[in-house]
Amino acid sequence: MRNWILLVVAVCATILAAAQQAEQQVAPPPAILLGAAWYPEQWPESQWESDLALMQKAGVRMVRVGEFAWVRMEPAEGQYDFGWLEHAIAAASKHGIYTVLGTPTAAPPAWLTQKYPETLRTKEDGTKDQHGNRQQFNWANPKYREFARNIAAQMAQRFGHNPYVIGWQIDNEYADQSFDPETKRQFQNWLKVRYGTLNNLNARWTTQYWSEAYTDWSQIPIQTGYGNPGLLLNWMRFVSDTWRSYQKNQIDAIRASADPRQFITTNTMGWFDGFDHYTVEQDLDLAAWDDYVGQGHLDPVRNGASHDLTRGFKRKNFWVMETQPGSVNWARINNSLDKGEVRAMAWHAIGHGADTVSYWQWRSALNGQEEYHGTIVGPDGAPVPLYDEIAQIGNEFAKASPVLAGTSPKSEVAVLHSYDSRWAIKWQKHNGDYDPVKEIVSYYGPLRAIAQSVDVVAETAPLSGYKLVVAPGLNVLSDAGAKNLIDYVNNGGHLVLGQRSAMKDADNTLFTERQPGPLAALLGGHVEQYYALEAPVPVEGSFGNGQGQLWAEMLSTKDAGAEVLMRYGVSNGWLDHQPAVISRKVGKGRITYIGAWLDDATMRNAAKWMIEVSGVRPAFGAVPEGVDVYPRYAADKTVYVLVNFAKTSQTVSLPKEMQDVLKGGAKKTVTLPRYGVAVLSAR
Ligand code: GLA
Ligand code: GLA
Repeated sequence: MRNWILLVVAVCATILAAAQQAEQQVAPPPAILLGAAWYPEQWPESQWESDLALMQKAGVRMVRVGEFAWVRMEPAEGQYDFGWLEHAIAAASKHGIYTVLGTPTAAPPAWLTQKYPETLRTKEDGTKDQHGNRQQFNWANPKYREFARNIAAQMAQRFGHNPYVIGWQIDNEYADQSFDPETKRQFQNWLKVRYGTLNNLNARWTTQYWSEAYTDWSQIPIQTGYGNPGLLLNWMRFVSDTWRSYQKNQIDAIRASADPRQFITTNTMGWFDGFDHYTVEQDLDLAAWDDYVGQGHLDPVRNGASHDLTRGFKRKNFWVMETQPGSVNWARINNSLDKGEVRAMAWHAIGHGADTVSYWQWRSALNGQEEYHGTIVGPDGAPVPLYDEIAQIGNEFAKASPVLAGTSPKSEVAVLHSYDSRWAIKWQKHNGDYDPVKEIVSYYGPLRAIAQSVDVVAETAPLSGYKLVVAPGLNVLSDAGAKNLIDYVNNGGHLVLGQRSAMKDADNTLFTERQPGPLAALLGGHVEQYYALEAPVPVEGSFGNGQGQLWAEMLSTKDAGAEVLMRYGVSNGWLDHQPAVISRKVGKGRITYIGAWLDDATMRNAAKWMIEVSGVRPAFGAVPEGVDVYPRYAADKTVYVLVNFAKTSQTVSLPKEMQDVLKGGAKKTVTLPRYGVAVLSAR
């Protein structure tokens, strides 16, 4: 018996050593990856080889596989088939292509939801979703989580040590909620944990209003869009926590058998506000998002802000897990990006700190809901016209990868972003045209144009590294957020609050102190009254003569140290000649409040003032209009990505001699055609 055990131990050790050796022999993937979404389950194996050969020729180094293939992996309950996936990973590896595995939980098999109908989500109108699309599952349902945990565990047991599998994507684009009675009970229990007693909840939500008071937890409804602001906000927090635990369920299943080398991520959707991403991203190794233009063309400012938002989730480099090869299929007009624009967009992503750009998708399924979506090869498996541009990107990524390895963006300016605040404004816009994301971008754009690098982070993030912190529309401010901002100013930072800031506490309850509530004492002034505007009002002062639009707050100063930088002109009588922007020095720090949504030209002047008064230095220096600069830093070098979004060719003189990474040679100037790209390295 003892000998037998020893033999087993010896055999196991040999297998383990062989496995470890196999892993050691595989080189780690390059720092910068070109990728594609590939669906081998949709094709006979005989087809794979020609697809993979074309991928290799284009410089594709990563495929994301499996994220909707549940029925192929588990064709019947408890019966697994991973052979095909094993073959697909191996086939890709022979072409130098690494795999990211998606857990398939966004697309449950029909047998599952038929046998366990409670796993289907209930829509807000009370009807059940059905099989035939995707995301029809109930994210809060325990039975669904059991199946999700199981399929993730099965995959991890099989591929957790596969040397060609570099990471995992959990599910796909978390989005939809469920409104069934069991989920409502979970919400009520969640509230009980958070508030302890009904007295506490009733007081904090001011439920004497409209007899909303609750005498039993089971009375609390789910409200979305219109309802008690405290309840609305807490439902979204419950939704966020539930996505977090939904995800954790799968992370734990994977981590139980996966090599720590394999990262875990999920793919989010830019500004999508269906959950608090800062909550959900905590448990991930890497942030990743799906970057789609849809109709029209790339807006480098708004899209750049989305990149920076995603980089801010983990405060480090991220991935673009999906992006459009030319066009999508879901916009009103699915126009293609221009020739050259796909490449410009890829480098714009890398510049903002993406380490991977992956196209959705390689090749269209022959049937299914997305037959018209852009691809890199056609249904015949032959390249479409865009293929050569993708291959150019692949070739350039390969060249630039060793230079970009270990580099990441770093900024002296932070723009703060808060889901609580965006939700709170969205639910009570007060001016129907008020868009909280547009407000954020209205500050971000001109600041980035001067500073050439901006971080987008939560109000609770570490701020001491920034010279300037700008909080547009930070409407809801928690105690922790307020403390973080007060400490920042007291330690010498410059905090700029944008219109609608610091109005409500973490229960979405009005502060009894006028805006900016807990920051008013530091500011030495406050908001006397806010006005939704039907027409722009004049503003004048340090930022020039311009207009306030959509929203105007009448400010006043209490402290003699608070200066008035801008005043309103003659408008509705109330605002006439009243302060619109005030600022106060606090030791070495400063706090400023901008009470009006400034027009573009005035905002540019405001940004210039903020940058100058805070001592922020541009990362690169002057560039022609339309040319974007993106710095990525390592200890021993800075790499600048330059992209020309202007309509005509532009010449950029470099602040010093730099190495041209794509074309070779030392340069003092570069000339970029429209959508032209340069990657420049400086010591
Ligand atoms: C109605 C209602 C009030 C209040 C006002 C607001 O008149 O009776 O309770 O909601 O509208 O304008
Ligand atoms: C999303 C999804 C993909 C695909 C694309 C199409 O990003 O994650 O599966 O449907 O949209 O644009």
